[in-house]
Amino acid sequence: MSEANSYSPGLAGVIAGESAISCIDVERNKLNMRGYDLVDLTEGGASFEEVAYLLLHDDLPSLGQLAAFNDALLIERQLPDAVAHLLRTAPAKAHPMALLRTAVSALAYSDADSLAGDTSHEANVRKAVRLLAKVPLIIAAGHRLAQGQEPVEPRDDLSLAANLLYMISGEEPKAYAIEAMNVSLILYSEHGYNASAFAARVAASTLADMHAAITAGVATLGGPLHGGANEAAMEMMLEIGTPDNARTWILDALQSKRKIMGFGHREYKSGDSRVPAMKQAGLSVSQETGEDRWRQIAEISEETMLAEKGIFPNLDLPCAYAYYGLDIPIPLFTPIFVASRISGWAAHVIEQQDNNRLIRPNHIYTGPVGRTYKSVGDR
Ligand code: SDX
Repeated sequence: MSEANSYSPGLAGVIAGESAISCIDVERNKLNMRGYDLVDLTEGGASFEEVAYLLLHDDLPSLGQLAAFNDALLIERQLPDAVAHLLRTAPAKAHPMALLRTAVSALAYSDADSLAGDTSHEANVRKAVRLLAKVPLIIAAGHRLAQGQEPVEPRDDLSLAANLLYMISGEEPKAYAIEAMNVSLILYSEHGYNASAFAARVAASTLADMHAAITAGVATLGGPLHGGANEAAMEMMLEIGTPDNARTWILDALQSKRKIMGFGHREYKSGDSRVPAMKQAGLSVSQETGEDRWRQIAEISEETMLAEKGIFPNLDLPCAYAYYGLDIPIPLFTPIFVASRISGWAAHVIEQQDNNRLIRPNHIYTGPVGRTYKSVGDR
């Protein structure tokens, strides 16, 4: 087979495109996001809004640009009637990711640029801002309605991170909780050609619109091998129950060839560059809440996985215990990942459609050949 037709299961190691959005530097174990080191952004005290702006534009915003961006998000911070109705009429047992995937798609009903079929750069940026502003409302309102509670309106004086916490709980979020949520949203925002970003790009490459491509991203992220791992990792830690059980539980699970959620990564082989920053945020939550059990379970699980398989934790593990410590319901963990990754996916859709070529790979045919047709009576 010629080099041009090389094949790798799961496209592992295959270069599937070009992008100026981000790049995983495996050697230096860093994530370059439009030229900035992602960890510098979290350590420098950036807001998620600044990082979302960076992803949708070519650089970090000035004070004026950030103010205008925040104003644009504020104006869009309400739900169209059709989506509000969809949330009110959804069955209470619907998984929040199924609800979110459906509601994101339904936002296209009333998006002026989507209705106009406008996939220009400017229209795509406008759609991205609307999605960024509305997805947190869908997550929080969908959750509260499923619990028989009325949605909590977002507050103009709160950031996206703070409003997520406020709209879910209905209570004034504490500073440490806002900080941990903001860090997690920055770390979750963008990660190159991961499965969900690639799904969004494939959809965008057919010139399907932003909402269709983002819906493809949401659908793809939901799987437990991808974004769904943060929920699965928390369920695993609850099943382990106490730090004393962690090592034995992991060893038994490995013995039965189970995948340990929150561990491993297709790209990183010596640790996920985002984990230290999220561990720091998770430690702060544990210290503030006085509940350190889940973080300790994660630490012992990490020691065991490293010793037994040489496999490191990924971002989903520390995110899981940090969110749990913030009293966020587990079924909202992956939807919150979506609220952040809207920014990365939208950047990929914009980049794809700004310089498009249909994404259509080949495959190796492994089925039968040379069969002769017989009419159904003779088969
Ligand atoms: C995300 O791509 C991205 O950037 C994704 C993401 C993003 O920000 O977009 O980082 C978000 O999806 C993080 C990953 C979350 N998923 C999980 O935590 C699920 C558990 N992880 C595994 O399923 C696995 O590690 C994957 C899916 C993440 C990676 O799969 P790969 O690349 O196919 O794994 P590999 O080739 O490196 O595995 C080598 C060996 C394999 O052994 P065999 O299949 O040959 O027997 O290590 C084993 C794997 O089975 N292995 C694991 C394991 N991860 C790898 N064994 C047990 N538990 C694990 N977690």
